[in-house]
Amino acid sequence: MADKKQPYIVGVLGSPRVGGNVDILLDAALQGAAEAGAAVTKLALNDLSIRPCQDCGGCSQTGRCVIRDDMDQVYEAIERMDGMVLASPVYFGGVTAQTKAMIDRCQALWARKYLLGHPISADGQNKHRDVLLVSTLAGDAVEDIEGIRTEVRYFVEILDSEYTELIFPRIARSGEVGEHWEAVGQAREAGAQLVRSR
Ligand SMILES: Cc1cc2nc3c(=O)[nH]c(=O)nc-3n(C[C@H](O)[C@H](O)[C@H](O)COP(=O)(O)O)c2cc1C
Repeated sequence: MADKKQPYIVGVLGSPRVGGNVDILLDAALQGAAEAGAAVTKLALNDLSIRPCQDCGGCSQTGRCVIRDDMDQVYEAIERMDGMVLASPVYFGGVTAQTKAMIDRCQALWARKYLLGHPISADGQNKHRDVLLVSTLAGDAVEDIEGIRTEVRYFVEILDSEYTELIFPRIARSGEVGEHWEAVGQAREAGAQLVRSR
């Protein structure tokens, strides 16, 4: 549990491959954040039951989603956090389905902020929550990289964040990125930077 002054960094694993490429990068980034003094926690979206947004309009009135499922853990983490490491590989030119479901359910936070004019935090405080995207893709198509970048930047806008990214092309096999020590080192440093830049 983070105390008041200790930065709290949330790692979100959007790949179903445990021990896969973005999982390795995520662990390195969280290690860097912890070494820089943060309390860290990791949520594996594939283990959570998160229903896609139903566009029911409920959150437009309250800023809260009407669906009660494991997304509640993610809302709670986002409300408390000082930064997030979002780890998703490129799937068909965008984020994974697990990640997209989470992002779409953040429509409730969008409504809270833009429709109702309320802060995202439960305690009513406005604060920045910087986001580091770590991603890999098997190819190197510019459209794929632009695709995931665009999706994640929409999400980041809700959080009043600085956005940074580490996207590594030509990484296909599960765990292959672990053979690239410089990529893992960059992720560790970027995680530490999330904390130091506060
Ligand atoms: C359903 C699916 C869709 C994919 N789509 C793309 C793609 O559009 N472009 C690409 O370069 N690689 C694509 N890939 C390859 C993954 O991005 C790549 O293997 C990545 O390193 C996997 O990361 P992970 O081990 O963290 O899951 C896809 C893989 C899967 C399973």
